[in-house]
Amino acid sequence: MCGIIGINSNKSVSATIINSLKKLEYRGYDSAGIATLSNGLINEVKSEGRVDNLEKNSIVQNMEGNIGIGHVRWATHGLPNSINAHPHSSQNVSVVHNGIIENSTLLKKFLLARGHKFKSQTDTEVIVHLITENLKTENIIDSIKKTLKALHGSFALGIIFKDQPDLIVGARRGSPLAVGYGPNENYLGSDSYALKSMTNKITYLNDGEFCIVKKNHVEFFNDDGVKINKKVLELSSEEEKYDKGEYKHFMAKEIEEQPLTIKNGIDEYIDTANNDINIYNIPWKRDEISSITLVGCGTAYHSCLMAKYWFEELTSLDVNVDIASEFRYKKNRFKKDNLYVFVSQSGETADTYAALDLCNKNNMKTCAVVNVIESSIARDSEFVLPIHCGIEIGVASTKAFLGQILILYILALKLGLLRGDLEKKEFSKKLSDLKNLPKLIEETLLIDNKIQNISYTFNEAKGSMFLGRGFSYPIALEGALKLKELSYIHAEGYPAGEMKHGPLALIEEGMPVVVLAPRDNYYKKTISNMQEVIARGAKVLLITNKSKDEIVSENIWETIEVESTNEDLLPFLLTIPLQKLAYYSALKKGFDIDKPRNLAKSVTVE
Ligand code: G6P
Repeated sequence: MCGIIGINSNKSVSATIINSLKKLEYRGYDSAGIATLSNGLINEVKSEGRVDNLEKNSIVQNMEGNIGIGHVRWATHGLPNSINAHPHSSQNVSVVHNGIIENSTLLKKFLLARGHKFKSQTDTEVIVHLITENLKTENIIDSIKKTLKALHGSFALGIIFKDQPDLIVGARRGSPLAVGYGPNENYLGSDSYALKSMTNKITYLNDGEFCIVKKNHVEFFNDDGVKINKKVLELSSEEEKYDKGEYKHFMAKEIEEQPLTIKNGIDEYIDTANNDINIYNIPWKRDEISSITLVGCGTAYHSCLMAKYWFEELTSLDVNVDIASEFRYKKNRFKKDNLYVFVSQSGETADTYAALDLCNKNNMKTCAVVNVIESSIARDSEFVLPIHCGIEIGVASTKAFLGQILILYILALKLGLLRGDLEKKEFSKKLSDLKNLPKLIEETLLIDNKIQNISYTFNEAKGSMFLGRGFSYPIALEGALKLKELSYIHAEGYPAGEMKHGPLALIEEGMPVVVLAPRDNYYKKTISNMQEVIARGAKVLLITNKSKDEIVSENIWETIEVESTNEDLLPFLLTIPLQKLAYYSALKKGFDIDKPRNLAKSVTVE
C-alpha cells in the first residue's frame, strides 16, 4: 500500500515529484523513490525510510528529466529496504505500484525461465519484466493490455519507458488513481490531494481503465484497449494549509483541536433556528430503512462500535457492525431495507472501499461518513456525511475519531426523530446538551500533568488492560489501540464484565489497568469488576466523571475525573485522557509519535 505520482512536463520534474511524495507519506513511509527519463536513459534513486532521506540524496538534487514517476511505500512483499523500494526498473521500463499482485510467484517463474533477472523481493517487479517481455512483440498499448490481463490482484500503476520521452502510462484495478491537468504538463497521482498543489482539474480512472499521459494530452482506454472519453472534474482549488504550530507533534495539536472539531460538526449539522438536525436530504424514505450496518477499519471500526450503542438506544433500527476486511469476504445477506454506513477518515482505506463496492454491486443503500470529501469512498457512496475536522496528519487518529462519533450520534438522533422513536422534547434536550460539548471537552483537556505521571507506570509494564461496559466499552478498545500504536506496549481492551471468563488470568501484581466507569447505568457493575482486578494485584487507573457522590471503593491507584454531561456524551470526554495517556507514554519513550513504526495513515491495500 503506497502512494504514486507521475509528471510529464516541459521542465525538470524531480523537485515537484519529491514535494508531491511528501504529501503522499500518509500512505506509507517505509521507503521512497523516484525515476526520471533523461537523454534516453532511465535514472532511478531510492532510499529506505522517509521522503526526507530521498531528498537529501545528492543524486536526486541534481536529477534531470522532464518526465518521471515517484513512490512512497508501505511494505507488503519484501523487507522495507532500498532494494525493495519502488520504482522498479529494467533497462526499458520503470514502474511504481500500489496494490498487491496475487499471482506474482507464478509470473516470476515464467519470467525467470525466459531469462529475466530479478533484483528485489517484491511482487511489483514481475510487472516490469512482463511489460519488458511483451514489448518484444507488441506496441506500447498492446503490451500494456496484455500485461494487465495477466495480473491478478489489485493495482494502481505509473509506468515510464526508455524510448518514450513524452508518455506515462497509468492503470487502475482496485487501487485508486487520478489524472491531473496542468499548463503544458499533466500528472498521475494516487489521489487528488497529492496533485492539489499543481492542479484542481482531475479525472478519476475507473476499475480496469488505463491511460496515456502526454504533456499536452491524455488518452483513456477501457480494459479491452478501446479509447474512451472521460469527464474532467473541477475540484475546489483551495489548498488546506496545516502545520504543527507551537506543538511538538501533529498528534498533540490534533488532540487539542478537538473542541473545534466538535464545534465545526455542530455548526454544520445543527439547525438551531428550527431546533433540528440539518440532514434534510436523506435519499431514502423513513420506511425504506429498518436496519443499519456500520463498516470500518481500525479507529473507524471503533467509531462504528460506539455508534451501535447510540443507534440501539435512540432508534428502533436493528444494528450490525462489521470490520471491513471481514465484511468483504463473508456471506452477506444483502437486504433492500438495510442502510450500509462506511466510516473512514481518509475515504481511501482499501478494505472499506471494497466493502462499499460490494454493496454498490448489490444495489444497496450506501452512506459514507468521511473526512476527505474528494475521496473514493465519498465519491462512490450514495449519500455523504462529512466530518469536517480538517486534515489529520498523526497516524494514530484522534480528532477524526471524535468527529466520526459526533456525526454518527447526530445521525442516530435524526433517524430516531424521523422514525418517531425519539420524542421531540427529548431530542431537543439532547441537542442542547450537545451544544455544550465543545466547552466540556476543552475543560477535560486541562487534565494533563497527572496523566503525564501516570503514563510512566504504563511504560514500565509488560502489558495493560482497558476495561469498560456499555458506552464505555468501545472507548476502552480505542484507548488500548492508541497505546499499542504509539508506545508499542501490549494493551487489550475488554468488556469489564467478561474479565472473569479468561483475561483475569493475565492480571498480576502491579499490572496497570484502566477502568472506564462513568456515572451511567453500568457504573455499579463496572466498579464491582474493578474490585475483582484490584483484588488480584492490578494498579487501577479509574476514569469517571465528576459527581457529588463519592466513589465508594478502596485501593484505587489513581483516579481521573472528566467533566459531566448526559450519558450519551460521556464517551467523548472519556476518550481525552486515553489519547493523552498514549501520547505521553510514547513521548517519554522517544518514539516517532506522528509516524509509528510499521503503520500508515491510510491503508490502501487489503
Ligand atoms: C490505519 C490508520 C488508523 C485508521 C485506519 C482506518 O490503520 O493507522 O488510524 O483508523 O487506517 O483508516 P480510515 O482512513 O479508513 O479511517
